[in-house]
Amino acid sequence: MIDDRRLRHLETQVDKLRTRTKDSSTRKTYDQVFDHAALLTIASLISDDVISTLDYPVSTGKEANVFHGTDSKGRAKALKIYRIATATFRNIAMYIEGDPRFKRVKRATKPTIFAWAQKEYKNLVRMGDAGVRVPRPERVLDNVVVMEYIGDETQPAPSLREAAPADPQAVFEDVVENLRRIRKASLVHADFSEYNLLWWGDQVVVIDVGQAVPLDHPRAEEWFRRDVVNTVRYFRRLRIDTSPSSLEQAILRG
Ligand SMILES: Nc1ncnc2c1ncn2[C@@H]1O[C@H](COP(=O)(O)OP(=O)(O)OP(=O)(O)O)[C@@H](O)[C@H]1O
Ligand SMILES: [Mg+2]
Repeated sequence: MIDDRRLRHLETQVDKLRTRTKDSSTRKTYDQVFDHAALLTIASLISDDVISTLDYPVSTGKEANVFHGTDSKGRAKALKIYRIATATFRNIAMYIEGDPRFKRVKRATKPTIFAWAQKEYKNLVRMGDAGVRVPRPERVLDNVVVMEYIGDETQPAPSLREAAPADPQAVFEDVVENLRRIRKASLVHADFSEYNLLWWGDQVVVIDVGQAVPLDHPRAEEWFRRDVVNTVRYFRRLRIDTSPSSLEQAILRG
């Protein structure tokens, strides 16, 4: 049960986050993220002991805000909160249509976003089960996905884009192995790039899997090839000699 005391306590936490923000556009984003429904959702995650505190923002993306949270045992969590007020899901329908797991989704905004959060959670589970290195999924509720936080108290893990790995060949092999396992999960990431790979403990961690689709999606192969091309482009800049066709084969040989 969510009692008033808990909800007030949460409102205080969110208020602190809000007043700490000098930047008015970020503040506006907060107002959009933390509507009453979102506060209730977070309060319910707190009363279920999925997290015990909502701490600070990690990232403000196009569609979602990611926050650092902590559970009662002191473990760090990432909360990815999809915004409802300013949802710009131009592409969402394209990824959901053709996915038999989401046949019954209504076009209305809120159910679509909830389904999207469900999809991200399920994709995390499915990839994790296939051995893809992803943040461990913890819970999905409404528009909030809770997962393992990658990073430490001083910083979230940088993306591969921001990091400068010392041994590109080793990173390449790690990335290929993760692509193989995504394939083994019968999924295509569909937004695979150095922006959606975190670099932590000399290993890559695959994130942002909301748009991933099963192999029987009509555009799965097209998006698979796009993932491969992005990967080749990134590693060529690091002087790794590869091509889309050789990488594709390396993945499919699995
Ligand atoms: N589990 C996590 N642990 C630590 N940081 C994370 C985690 N998940 C996401 N982040 C941070 O939040 C950022 C945005 O996450 P993600 O890519 O999943 O969302 P997005 O909606 O695609 O955002 P964007 O529009 O910025 O790409 C990541 O680049 C990363 O910095
Ligand atoms: Mg992203």
